Amino acid sequence: MAKLKIGFIGCGGIANQKHFPGMSQQTEYVDMCAFCDLIPERAEKAAKEYGTPDAKVYTDYHELLADPTIDAVHVLTPNIAHCEITIAALEAGKHVLCEKPMAATEADAKKMLEARDRTGKMLTIGYQYRHFPVNQVAKAVVDDGWLGDIYYAEATYLRRRGVPTWGVFTDKSKQGGGPLIDIGTHALDLTLFLMNNYDVDYVVGTSFEKLGRLLDPEHQGQVNYRGEHDSWNNETYDVEDSAFGHIKMKNGAVINLRASWAINMVGETGANNEAHATLAGTKGGLDTLEDRVRLNHVVANQPSVTYVGNKVASYIPGFSQGPAPLSKEADIWVKALRGEGELFVTADQAYCVTKILDAIYQSSKTGKPVYFD
Ligand SMILES: NC(=O)c1ccc[n+]([C@@H]2O[C@H](COP(=O)([O-])OP(=O)(O)OC[C@H]3O[C@@H](n4cnc5c(N)ncnc54)[C@H](O)[C@@H]3O)[C@@H](O)[C@H]2O)c1
Repeated sequence: MAKLKIGFIGCGGIANQKHFPGMSQQTEYVDMCAFCDLIPERAEKAAKEYGTPDAKVYTDYHELLADPTIDAVHVLTPNIAHCEITIAALEAGKHVLCEKPMAATEADAKKMLEARDRTGKMLTIGYQYRHFPVNQVAKAVVDDGWLGDIYYAEATYLRRRGVPTWGVFTDKSKQGGGPLIDIGTHALDLTLFLMNNYDVDYVVGTSFEKLGRLLDPEHQGQVNYRGEHDSWNNETYDVEDSAFGHIKMKNGAVINLRASWAINMVGETGANNEAHATLAGTKGGLDTLEDRVRLNHVVANQPSVTYVGNKVASYIPGFSQGPAPLSKEADIWVKALRGEGELFVTADQAYCVTKILDAIYQSSKTGKPVYFD
């Protein structure tokens, strides 16, 4: 089988952290042959570091999509552009791996689903947390029946101070929202995936704009991923700094979602500081910890705790090291492109996540629940 030709639209943070290194492990099967960014130096640098010798560089994604030899593209731009570029790519006959969240709004995500169905091309979304070994262990525990009927869950991604200070994350016009749409989306995707329940009855939510604008940038107490003090611009900050949602499923189960990148709460002891899930069922419950799953169950009539998957693999900030998250996503994607496997994150599942997030924002504005069909 000939090598697949892959193009990349957006050559910023996540492209360099995940997609380029991930796909560069697949060069037995793919040619990384086209790179597009509004900032030409970014596309040029990517082509030089990761591209084939004849890799092309673009600043206009339409030109990249006009190349009939390209089989698939990765859409790695800010959220607001996901819909337009993904639909154009599908219409141009390309398969698409689009970054999370699927879209800035439910309406946009729906258009993307329709375009996938119209064109018959593949569409998947970059929810790599599902691939983390600890989360795979959690999925196996659930599927093995240790929890019974799951009726309560918490989906959590809380940063005490962790506002992204690169890119356009604090610009609502480019991202559609703040921590809810940026990191809450991962926690919710992970929780729905573990529960395997996408049937929503209604959603109530509240988002807060308390700290993002008020804090003096000199005293924000922000520490970035390299452990250095960093600050965000509170004059241009126009997204929420925390958001909370209550999601009632049609089978009666509820999920409480908490997302923040600036809130005066310390992290939970034992929990990891990234996306994690707590589930409670009729037979047992679990928490996804940093490197293992804590199963809360009853043994010999005694409430007991069992740690499952002892030190399965620690989470690596920035996905820069460790094979699991970045190579797994690329591996599954390339297998699906080659017709040798199925997509793991379906666009329908990602659509449900975006619909819930959109409903939380709507509910926060109106003070009312949003009912699903
Ligand atoms: N999976 C994850 O955990 C994860 C982590 C970070 C970011 N993301 C997602 O990735 C996306 C990008 O985030 P980022 O951190 O890489 O941002 P970024 O700002 O670092 O990079 C985005 C790049 O897209 C380019 N761009 C914007 N509009 C474009 C267009 N129309 N055509 C071509 N290029 C365009 C920008 O110039 C920029 O270089 C967002 O949707 C974000 O939610 C996902």
